[in-house]
Amino acid sequence: MNEKLTTAAAHIQKVKPCNPKVGIVLGSGLGDFVNQIENKTIISYDDIPNFHKTTVEGHAGQLILGNVGETEVVILQGRFHSYEGLPMDDVVFPTRLLSTLGVETLILTNAAGGINTNYSAGDLVIIEDHINMTGKNPLIGPNNDEMGPRFPDMSKAYDPELRELVQSSAKDLGYQMQTGVYAGVLGPTYETPAEVRMLRIIGADVVGMSTVPECIAANHIGMKVCGISCVTNMASGIENVELKHEDIKDEALRVMEKFTNILKETVKRIGA
Ligand code: HPA
Repeated sequence: MNEKLTTAAAHIQKVKPCNPKVGIVLGSGLGDFVNQIENKTIISYDDIPNFHKTTVEGHAGQLILGNVGETEVVILQGRFHSYEGLPMDDVVFPTRLLSTLGVETLILTNAAGGINTNYSAGDLVIIEDHINMTGKNPLIGPNNDEMGPRFPDMSKAYDPELRELVQSSAKDLGYQMQTGVYAGVLGPTYETPAEVRMLRIIGADVVGMSTVPECIAANHIGMKVCGISCVTNMASGIENVELKHEDIKDEALRVMEKFTNILKETVKRIGA
């Protein structure tokens, strides 16, 4: 695995020598954030050695190097999901690659269903913790000791200082954000209403099909993680509507301005 990562990182350094300390993963429908990046270098996932190709609609599949203000960033526009049938090693390869490139702070963003009935579509949620409901874990198998410990601590999986930084960035821009627990499920089906009721009882505020594997791999390898969910819909059974991927992407687009402003401000403050 380390050799695969080194090869992939070497390719990126050859295309554009870089030293990003901040990495951002853009979720479904949130890819437009790349328009905010200055001095962009775009590298297609297809050209990165050992990378898988993205398949899901709304996920472009490119790595972008550039700047947000003074801060050098690397962005993953499009991610891999376990439900695509990929081994977990492939799902978290991009996360680990960001660490190989020097990233110390990882911002994970996603589209999610709102479970907490105080939420509504269009809300942005700072992830304070997660519940792994996938039945999988990217660290299963022999531990890579060079990467991190066999039994990583997950008591601050989403860094409290980063959570505070996102909250204060949003507040200073005049935006309200929610704070909540993300339940990570395998998908690709949306949940049943009974599953949503169960997730609420066990303490989840939002539900989605990504982020958890990346957060685990990032904590293992020693990156600080920050998570932001865009509530694109209320989860199954809360409102009497059918859930459609198209509508979910459209809702993410509607939140784009708020999402972009908060993310930009946060990245600037991380770099400062
Ligand atoms: N459930 C799971 N994943 C999601 C949802 C949802 O309701 N909305 C966006 N991603």
